[in-house]
Amino acid sequence: MRKKVDFLIIGSGIAGLSFALKVADYGKVCIVTKAAAEESSTKYAQGGIAAVMYTPDSYEKHIKDTMMAGDQLSNEEIVRITITESTERIKELIAWGANFDKTASGRYDLAKEGGHSEYRVLHHKDRTGNEIERALLENVKKHPNIELLENQFTIDIITQHHLGIEVNKKTKDIQCYGAYVLNPETNEINTYLSKITLIATGGNGNVYNTTTNPLISTGDGIAMVYRAKGLVEKMEFVQFHPTALYNPHEKPSFLISEAVRGFGAKLKTIDGKEFMQKYDSRGELAPRDIVARAIDNELKLKGDDYVFLDCRHLNKNDLIDHFPTIYAKCFTIGIDITKDMIPVVPTAHYNCGGIKVNEFGRSSIVNLYASGECSSTGLHGANRLASNSLLESLVFSHRASIDSINILNTITHCDEIPDWNAEGMVLNEEMVLITQSLKELQLIMSNYVGIVRSNLRLKRAFDRLDILYKETEELFDRSILTVKICELRNLINNAYLIIKMAMERKESRGLHYSLDYPKENEKRIL
Ligand code: FAD
Ligand code: SIN
Repeated sequence: MRKKVDFLIIGSGIAGLSFALKVADYGKVCIVTKAAAEESSTKYAQGGIAAVMYTPDSYEKHIKDTMMAGDQLSNEEIVRITITESTERIKELIAWGANFDKTASGRYDLAKEGGHSEYRVLHHKDRTGNEIERALLENVKKHPNIELLENQFTIDIITQHHLGIEVNKKTKDIQCYGAYVLNPETNEINTYLSKITLIATGGNGNVYNTTTNPLISTGDGIAMVYRAKGLVEKMEFVQFHPTALYNPHEKPSFLISEAVRGFGAKLKTIDGKEFMQKYDSRGELAPRDIVARAIDNELKLKGDDYVFLDCRHLNKNDLIDHFPTIYAKCFTIGIDITKDMIPVVPTAHYNCGGIKVNEFGRSSIVNLYASGECSSTGLHGANRLASNSLLESLVFSHRASIDSINILNTITHCDEIPDWNAEGMVLNEEMVLITQSLKELQLIMSNYVGIVRSNLRLKRAFDRLDILYKETEELFDRSILTVKICELRNLINNAYLIIKMAMERKESRGLHYSLDYPKENEKRIL
């Protein structure tokens, strides 16, 4: 099957859907998404979306907090753009029908999370993402110019490489002509030709053994762009969320929102001792990298598997009212959060780097844009400020829409693109080759490339990964393609980029902490 559209959007989270709504009046839009439409990290976002709404908050305060959380590695111009456009983007989201909680006086009930100096996080109970995804999807489904195709797995973007023209990292005008998309139901690989393509494929948390990310987060878009010789950056900055529910064998890990700490919950070791003040005067509300490292340190000191999050001193009714999902989930495993402490551990959560884009979401490949977690705009620097990622997706999908609408009429489809050639491929009947390699990959990453790293650990991970890479490429080259083998290949690609960029960073900065480059001002006990 060959399909021609003006805008091809890969992914149906906040980045893809908000872009679709902005461009749909200017051309034919097709969204392809690899699972059910709503399945995305967006759907599971709990805490909320950060934006400056009322005094005493100000753009300057939010900018300062973002720069501080990012360990001063964020691009200040990009931070300023994002924050100063935050209020407008929130108003638009509300106009699309997203509901955020209000106080009795009718003002938005703003929450506070780690690294924020003010109350500025809009939320819908503890299921903000679900509410945003619902509102966006409702609008998308109503728009006559938008076609939404579920369970369609994008394998690769199409460039002049597919016309037999050599493309390498130095090629200046790599062009994107669309994408090859696998329909797993028919095993067909279809050709989608587009004038503009947006990659909005989300994060890559499944590179690790435990993650809060849903199963769809396998870094596909990042791997596609890297294979197409586009620029990818800052992959070493992997954010571990300090408080995922400790419930071994549950995948993905269930998140206990940072907003619970914002509400007053305290971290304690198993023997009941508070410890955060030892590490940072902001205590439980220090930026995430600091809290995650403090927990990691306490676990290593004591040899424990988890620490506790204690909510027992908080008002019972308010707690249940603000966090009904967390309350209900914990209850299913026998924990009443109003009476029992919650066992928590740090878990892979967010990918700060990704496809390098400019202030309009343009990647280094012509006519290819990226937005959301798969992109690297420069906002997050070495560590993302809590609840800034939903905002980033809205701001850069908006900016990408303006830029792409401007150039749409200057682009023509490339009809010479050949269809995918699957001749000579055989069905891989040994799924164990894939499932086992995936487990190995995730253990390598969790054991050697986690919260605390060292040159020796990174080198070991690199060498082990090389074996997996060679085996998987060989399998990929001769197999009839399936989603599972493509995802494994993409995850290995993402792991390679994380390790390589971590090895190149000769300092401890933000989320990248190396024992070989200790931070002078950081209180580490081990
Ligand atoms: P996603 O929402 O992940 O969407 C990606 C889409 O791409 C999916 O539809 C997926 O199916 C599709 N896709 C992927 N690969 C392919 C492929 N090969 N072919 C076709 N389709 C593909 N951030 C905040 O700001 N505030 C929060 O409170 C918050 N809470 C969070 C809680 C959890 C549990 C998690 C996991 C994340 C949280 N985050 C939060 C982070 C935030 O939710 C994400 O960064 C954001 O939603 C990413 O949006 P996105 O559109 O880029 O990607
Ligand atoms: C949370 O609710 O703790 C997640 C917020 C985020 O990832 O920004």
